[in-house]
Amino acid sequence: MVFSSARARQFDAQFERLRRAFSRCLSGEAGIVLVEGAVGCGKTHTLEAVTAHAAKAGALVLKAYGTSADRAPLGTLRQLLDSPRLPRATADHLRRALDHGALDAAPPRETPGGDPVGTNPSHVQGAREFRAALHELASREPVVICVDELQLVDAASLQYLLYLATRSRSAKLLMVFAQATDSERQDAVFNTELLRQPNFQRLRLERLSWDETAHLLTTRLGLPDSTDVAYTWYEVSGGNPLLLRAVIDDYRTAGAPPRRSRAVEPVVGDMFVQAVLTCVYRSGRTVSRLAEGIAVLGASASLELLGRCCASAPPEPAAESPRWTRRASSTVSPSVTRMSRPRCWRTWTPRSGWT
Ligand SMILES: Nc1ncnc2c1ncn2[C@@H]1O[C@H](COP(=O)(O)OP(=O)(O)O)[C@@H](O)[C@H]1O
Ligand SMILES: [Mg+2]
Repeated sequence: MVFSSARARQFDAQFERLRRAFSRCLSGEAGIVLVEGAVGCGKTHTLEAVTAHAAKAGALVLKAYGTSADRAPLGTLRQLLDSPRLPRATADHLRRALDHGALDAAPPRETPGGDPVGTNPSHVQGAREFRAALHELASREPVVICVDELQLVDAASLQYLLYLATRSRSAKLLMVFAQATDSERQDAVFNTELLRQPNFQRLRLERLSWDETAHLLTTRLGLPDSTDVAYTWYEVSGGNPLLLRAVIDDYRTAGAPPRRSRAVEPVVGDMFVQAVLTCVYRSGRTVSRLAEGIAVLGASASLELLGRCCASAPPEPAAESPRWTRRASSTVSPSVTRMSRPRCWRTWTPRSGWT
């Protein structure tokens, strides 16, 4: 199911690139794809679409996701063992590889200019076995490895994945990762090493444009397809598909209030507030801190004041659009917090020191 036909056009273009990478994988050319975007911009949705496509074409799909709840060394990769379609012999081989790496749970040390997999012998041996098990499997059937929330994957799992990614060219293997843009927890070595690979491509999921927002309101709510109508909805959601979806749900729950004029104002309700809070929390410490500042300062939340409050970056002129402001605006536009502020006060108590 696609979100809307306008959204689908952008989605289809990205999906087509993934589909081509999968076709090359079927002919024995391994691929690595990194899907990036802000929270709520459709990364998981894209991963699900490509894994459904690959599974339908007969590939063996192995999935895992990073989570801050489980940072145990190799914890993320152990999820790959849960696939019901994984042959028993491969599962045993993979388990041995992971147990090997777990012998020494200390994160691998980096040596300047050294192998990115590190110098820890049990990790190197484990990573080698991990690759051998998956290559052996891919010699029999196409394999797609899908890892969501890459920024939360434990360090040892990243080392194994990197070893596999950098040593797989001729294999029926496609690796697809999804990572939140600008996350403070991105692994620089992992990302840079991927960039070196000729079979690597990065897909960036953008927020919805005004046009796309207008079109979506037409398909989902039957509103006139016009940017005038979409203006406030776009302001409230900032073009974030998750926030737009939430505000559409709130509008429906409120029973589509009667219109006074051509303008159709969105309704900010519980779904929207929860979605905003989720986006903020999942965007990391800097965005949380900025959102706290906006919640406290309200309409007077200028860039300068926010910079001083957050003390996370020196105030910069608005025109320069500092990195931390861009990061916040990818999930929350000032009007979002303005409109939802009274509820946010109830659900979200700013840290002491703000009042
Ligand atoms: N192209 C799309 N088609 C349908 N729904 C989409 C699309 N992109 C995003 N969505 C919807 O937007 C919401 C957020 O998407 P999700 O994939 O969870 O974002 P992310 O993983 O980037 O945080 C979900 O409800 C999802 O169904
Ligand atoms: Mg996701």
